Amino acid sequence: MTLWGGRFSEPTDADLRALNDSIGFDQRMYKEDIQGSMAWAGALAEAGVISGDDAEQIIDGLEQVRAEFDAGTFEFKAGDEDIHTAVERRLTELIGAIGGRLHTGRSRNDQVATDVRLWTMNALTELKDALLMLITELVSKAEAHRDTLMPGYTHMQPAQPITVEKWLDSYANMAARDVERLNQAYTNAREAMPLGSGALAGTPFPINRLHLIEQLDFGNYNANSLDAVSDRDFVADALYAMSMIGVHLSRLGEDLILFSNPAFGFVTLDDRYSTGSSLMPQKRNPDPMELARGKAGRLIGNLTGLLTTLKGLPSGYNKDLQEDKEPLFDSFDTLMKLLPVVTAVIKTLKLNPDKMRAALDPDMLATDLADYLVKKGMPFREAHHVAGRAVKLAAEQGIKLPELSLDALRGLSDLFDADVAAVFDFEESVRRRKI
Ligand code: ARG
Repeated sequence: MTLWGGRFSEPTDADLRALNDSIGFDQRMYKEDIQGSMAWAGALAEAGVISGDDAEQIIDGLEQVRAEFDAGTFEFKAGDEDIHTAVERRLTELIGAIGGRLHTGRSRNDQVATDVRLWTMNALTELKDALLMLITELVSKAEAHRDTLMPGYTHMQPAQPITVEKWLDSYANMAARDVERLNQAYTNAREAMPLGSGALAGTPFPINRLHLIEQLDFGNYNANSLDAVSDRDFVADALYAMSMIGVHLSRLGEDLILFSNPAFGFVTLDDRYSTGSSLMPQKRNPDPMELARGKAGRLIGNLTGLLTTLKGLPSGYNKDLQEDKEPLFDSFDTLMKLLPVVTAVIKTLKLNPDKMRAALDPDMLATDLADYLVKKGMPFREAHHVAGRAVKLAAEQGIKLPELSLDALRGLSDLFDADVAAVFDFEESVRRRKI
């Protein structure tokens, strides 16, 4: 018997069932579904809709169903359309007709919205832990390289010397913002417990929703039942937070791919986190970071897909909303696979300070040269021009900026003095900028 067999005389077409069923993916919400149903059974009893004895039997039965899922012994049957159907079907097998009282005053619409919120809260908590591990490794690697200098880039062109600490810490900063976004998405999922909304119009029974939110650890319940059953903003928020993590991991990936290229040689990925080529014996490929870059597309795609699903929906629940779960699960699974590997790449990353040092070009101190003139009283615009002339002059003479003679410099401005030599010091350049 299907959940809605009463008004039909023919069974659902098998192809439609294959299309319609979500059990293949929503069974991973079994814990949340059972947790919500237990709380609902208690709420029904509290409201005097079912007896305390019935509620107890239902809750015990649900406990057994959960044990079967936990043990991997739960047997699915044809007709288990989704996790809600499967749990209720099994409950009724175990405790008989009383199981049929559980769905009183409830709809799968407020039920699934509740399940997905609970699942999202749990997932975001796990994700945050994984992200904090990455931050820990980024910060500890950064701290070990407070004084290691490397070229800093803008437009991917040599710009000014920076420390490795600043480089790695920039990613820790991005990840810290990502943690904030995860926290916000968590709060958004937690803010509106939908149970009591029914299919759309609200439940007719005097359910104590304050008690329900306490039991399920929600922060609040929803204010509008019609909104609550179709509100998936919190899924979009979670997908956005996860997309931003993807964007940041992708950028980190791009840096490591480039810096591990022998033309740079700044970093070496550990053997355990590099791959070889089946054809070219010399190859050492940064696959994990290429995947970090590549997976960002998938994470952004999941967000875009959900937003596209949501944008055309009329009021209330629509079956389109069943499309919320796969992108959500996929983004979570993607990051839970990716984050530990990226964390290990950072932890085991070998930095090559000599290569970084060798890539520091004295031209990268041209700004310092301009700043020198500023300190002697020249307006910065003019100083910028003079320093540019100095760079050009050195290039014409085929020498580096610090090799220009004092005479040559004085030919550009009489503010130059013997103390100009102190400008050409990478360490000093970095130290001066530690405000
Ligand atoms: N499997 C459905 C989903 O994921 C559950 C809700 C079904 N509701 C309904 N009225 N058919 O959205």
